[in-house]
Amino acid sequence: MTDRKATLTIDGLDETLELPVYEGTLGPAVVDVGNLVSSGVFTYDPGFTSTASCESAITYIDGGKGVLLHRGYPIEQLAEHSHYLEVCYLLLHGELPNAEQSENFESIIRNHTMVNDQVNTFFRGFRRDAHPMAIMCGVVGALSAFYHDATDISDLEHRVISAHRLVAKMPTLAAMTYKYTKGQPFMYPRNDLDYAENFLYMMFGNPCEEYKVSPVLARAMDRIFLLHADHEQNASTSTVRLAGSTGANPFACISAGIAALWGPSHGGANEAVLSMLSRIGDESRIEEFVARAKDKDDPFRLMGFGHRVYKNFDPRATVLKEAADEVLQELGMENDPLLRIARRLEKIALEDSYFIERKLYPNVDFYSGIILKAIGIPTSMFTVIFALGRTIGWIVHWNEMISNSYRIGRPRQLYIGHKQRDYVKMEDRSTTNA
Ligand code: SDX
Repeated sequence: MTDRKATLTIDGLDETLELPVYEGTLGPAVVDVGNLVSSGVFTYDPGFTSTASCESAITYIDGGKGVLLHRGYPIEQLAEHSHYLEVCYLLLHGELPNAEQSENFESIIRNHTMVNDQVNTFFRGFRRDAHPMAIMCGVVGALSAFYHDATDISDLEHRVISAHRLVAKMPTLAAMTYKYTKGQPFMYPRNDLDYAENFLYMMFGNPCEEYKVSPVLARAMDRIFLLHADHEQNASTSTVRLAGSTGANPFACISAGIAALWGPSHGGANEAVLSMLSRIGDESRIEEFVARAKDKDDPFRLMGFGHRVYKNFDPRATVLKEAADEVLQELGMENDPLLRIARRLEKIALEDSYFIERKLYPNVDFYSGIILKAIGIPTSMFTVIFALGRTIGWIVHWNEMISNSYRIGRPRQLYIGHKQRDYVKMEDRSTTNA
């Protein structure tokens, strides 16, 4: 902590307030307003645009420079040289694993991929046409009913076991969700396959024949997981932290994160991007949709564009844009019509003053959907894939909070409702519906 101070004077308050200012290793300093309430005022920041909710050492984002670091390592280098489980280890332990640590971690994950067989029955309660995210919210939350042997959050070993179980079982549950909505039998995980390969096997394999996963698709899938692993205090991660601050078990907290991610302004955007590109349908209609996105009276927004923090490019979108090229080329789909529309839409938007003035650039969701579609993932499963990749980020932030001193999160408000008034008996009430 530093001895920097912020001095605050407020009309109507006699005292001048001195508030501590803290500096991190990177990024903006913060003003500690924790004691402001004793002066009878709150801070006010709907959407938390200028509010730091915690201190964290996991991920750093510089929105102006398009920088994303996981434990100090740039996302571009991790996307090129690393793989998802190694990034999971890095996020969990703070350092890249050596060969022995890597082998041990991957063995633990590989040997926890099966779910309690009773979970199969749990799925049967859903309609087959349920949205996969509705199923995932329910099934992940229900894991606390199956794995209550390690939910003492004050016990580090329990937290590590829950972390391993969630990273290991999310692909299995995601693939089961897909199979269930297709009316196909569940595929059991295989311990001889890598993480992304195993997921694609459980998604697209069937008991009637041998299924070989394409290494090209497995690599693309792994990179999608890696690029979605963590992103600082985004809406779903903040939801997990707030749920965790009450002492709720990790499965309930991750289920809350899945629910928050589902919204089209957040993780649901990847599904919305594909729907939007399909709705545009032809390059000749792009101008029409760009005009609608700029029209204040039209609720339509260009899905996959804009970001609360990135006011320059989203480094993940840059990696995914290149990956989309590679994957589609390797699959002989370089002339994919949706990719053509996406490229043209991006070009038009980035040359339009409305988007330039508002610093609206493609975000992680703009290109991910195109790759997922090329891999064969159905649109309704896109946000499930995002949740699968982001599970490690949610867990690591939850664990970072629980491992340090924390209090229950309890924001206040600016009250604009009625002043106190007395109860009115029925016979004294107005007969007109006000
Ligand atoms: C993710 O937080 C994270 O880190 C999230 C994430 C992660 O990894 O966890 O990065 C993942 O959620 C990425 C974002 C995916 N969402 C979308 O692609 C949906 C489309 N984008 C928007 O809904 C919006 O840009 C947000 C929600 C992403 C950001 O919203 P903000 O920061 O609250 O910005 P805003 O709504 O205040 O918009 C500022 C201006 C407004 O115009 P004015 O009122 O100033 O005239 O920009 C306009 C908005 O109307 N605007 C858009 C737009 N996004 C913002 N106009 C058209 N199309 C858009 N996409």
